Amino acid sequence: MWEKVWNHEKIAYGGDYNPEQWPEETWEEDMRLLKLAHIDILTLNVFSWAALQPSEDTYNFEKLDKIMELAKKHGMKVCLATSTAAHPAWMARKYPEVLRTDFHGVKHKFGARHNSCPNSDVYRKYSVRLAEKLAERYKDYGNIVAWHISNEYGGECYCENCENAFRGWLQKRYGTLEKLNRAWNTSFWGHTIYDWEDIVLPDQRSEHIDEDRTVAQAISIDYRRFNSDSIMECFQLEYDAVKKITPNIPVTTNLMGAYKPLDYMKWGKYMDFISWDNYPSNEDSISKTAMNHDLMRGVGDNKPFVLMEQTPSQQNWQPFNALKRPGVMRLWSYQAVAHGSDAVMFFQMKRSIGSCEKYHGAVISHAGHENTRVFRECTELGAELEKLGGEILGSTVPAETAILFDWENWWAVEYSAGPNVDLRYHDEVLNYYAALHNQNIPVDMISEEADLSKYKLVIAPVMYMTKPGVDERIRVFVENGGTFVTTFFSGYVDESDLVILGGYPGRLRDILGIWVEEIDSLPEHKKNSFFYQGQEYDAKLLCDIMHLEGAESLAEYQQDFYANTPVLTRNSFGRGQAYYVGTRSDKAFYQKLLEDICTEQQIYPVLKTPKGVEAVKRVRGQEQYLFLLNHEEDRVQVNVEESAQDLLTGKEYQKGERVVLPAKGVAILKGCLS
Ligand code: GLA
Ligand code: ZN
Repeated sequence: MWEKVWNHEKIAYGGDYNPEQWPEETWEEDMRLLKLAHIDILTLNVFSWAALQPSEDTYNFEKLDKIMELAKKHGMKVCLATSTAAHPAWMARKYPEVLRTDFHGVKHKFGARHNSCPNSDVYRKYSVRLAEKLAERYKDYGNIVAWHISNEYGGECYCENCENAFRGWLQKRYGTLEKLNRAWNTSFWGHTIYDWEDIVLPDQRSEHIDEDRTVAQAISIDYRRFNSDSIMECFQLEYDAVKKITPNIPVTTNLMGAYKPLDYMKWGKYMDFISWDNYPSNEDSISKTAMNHDLMRGVGDNKPFVLMEQTPSQQNWQPFNALKRPGVMRLWSYQAVAHGSDAVMFFQMKRSIGSCEKYHGAVISHAGHENTRVFRECTELGAELEKLGGEILGSTVPAETAILFDWENWWAVEYSAGPNVDLRYHDEVLNYYAALHNQNIPVDMISEEADLSKYKLVIAPVMYMTKPGVDERIRVFVENGGTFVTTFFSGYVDESDLVILGGYPGRLRDILGIWVEEIDSLPEHKKNSFFYQGQEYDAKLLCDIMHLEGAESLAEYQQDFYANTPVLTRNSFGRGQAYYVGTRSDKAFYQKLLEDICTEQQIYPVLKTPKGVEAVKRVRGQEQYLFLLNHEEDRVQVNVEESAQDLLTGKEYQKGERVVLPAKGVAILKGCLS
């Protein structure tokens, strides 16, 4: 479906355009500029609800008609948003129930955006109606390549609507109060729920100490599931509304990478294709951004994925909104493409004159002409993408290694009272991802439901929550010859955050061949250490004290009362093996461990490159595209292993020849799979 409807002649290039903020006389000049920059797709109508529906009974599409015609006349494809991420003032005035109540119990007034209660019937009714009206109106327009439902769904609501809906959601999940009481362990601190009406939302007024700390993990985790589902239902309702009228137009909503409040693994199932907004700061590591791309690709489980937003230069909402240095916008755009994106899109086409995004980067600056650095860089990239044509589209990013990433686990790990406040799930995952990424070993970020059989190596850092069936799938994977790696604080609890009795890591114990008796928690300034392959590495944050039950010890602690006990183990299980890393260590250790495992399992890097040069491969049939991305400030040389042609320069390379990449430079080498 994707290839039929998306602008599939080439990598789509464009982004959010808000002409409604400008006098009509300026639009033609915008078009001239955007065409000059080779822009070919516009995301329209992202925040226009107030204009489209000025009162409860009136709709007015006149201006949008004109904008849609303008786009078409100038050969731009349209990614049409449904405008439902900010409700109009009349709605808040007439139906205050659409307003959200925050974590502190404060009922909000009209203002800002992402401001609607996801369980408000009024919001749902009118958002769906607007989506329907848009689909009806533009179904024969012929130029819409995607629906963009709402915008960056997120946040949470603690209003009475939501409280009621939560009770209903729990009734569906548990059926009886007996089951709910058991799952919530309500015999602790006299929390017994006698009546569904006793249930209140877990917030500052009830179970929470602050946003991150709760006394009732099971309730707070259920609230997160519920909130993610509630917001997802809003998406689904609009999805269905546009789909029934325009069944051939693919539907998406723009996700936000590793955004904790929404379980994107679940969301991905209901999206036709994944799109996401990439806003790294200049301080973020390249691996972090790469992991986000791979995570978004993983959320779609092989659905197409696109970069819906990035800034051409700076942002407005970070504490320090540094400019993207010359070449960086291009480099990061190709990084997205390398990791699977079939589009390069921006927020925004043109800087507004007022409100909080007026200093956010844009293709067209406040100067209003083409003679700016940013405009030139956008134009150069646009020309290049045009030249690339449809070459890369639809090719995939193959990987033999996967990391399990699970939102519910994330919530559970970070709600846990103890063992260590510095434990952050995403950071632990990133440690493993970065070790692989730094070696150019491709990684799929996958859900716990994904098919494991296609991987040689599966890593599950801090898999604290083991949901039913997951251990069995890992068991089968290892029995059949797979290599599994997990870490401290894994296998502790079930899906209700109830401890699995009989010793940690619970259901994973037989696979790993160990039993963890205690876990020591170290403050930041304290550490233990261990020797692995003759080298000493740090043991930090958490140190498991464990017993071997069939596994062999590969390293032991050096200090403290648990000196000489195992910290790193390997267990042979069926035809495969399972590693357990009992502590947090440092980059060098992760790098070494994973290098050793990959060598043993014959998992090869895409290419060996100098430090800071990322090599990623996309593949279609026998064709392969090797992306070389130089993130460094200096010129580098990379040896190519196969004969290939650089699609950006046309230059041909023979096996063993050197590709010279300038600072922030990119090459896309097309060759054949050997
Ligand atoms: C998000 C939103 C946009 C805009 C940008 C600014 O991605 O979707 O509407 O606010 O952030 O960075
Ligand atoms: Zn609400």
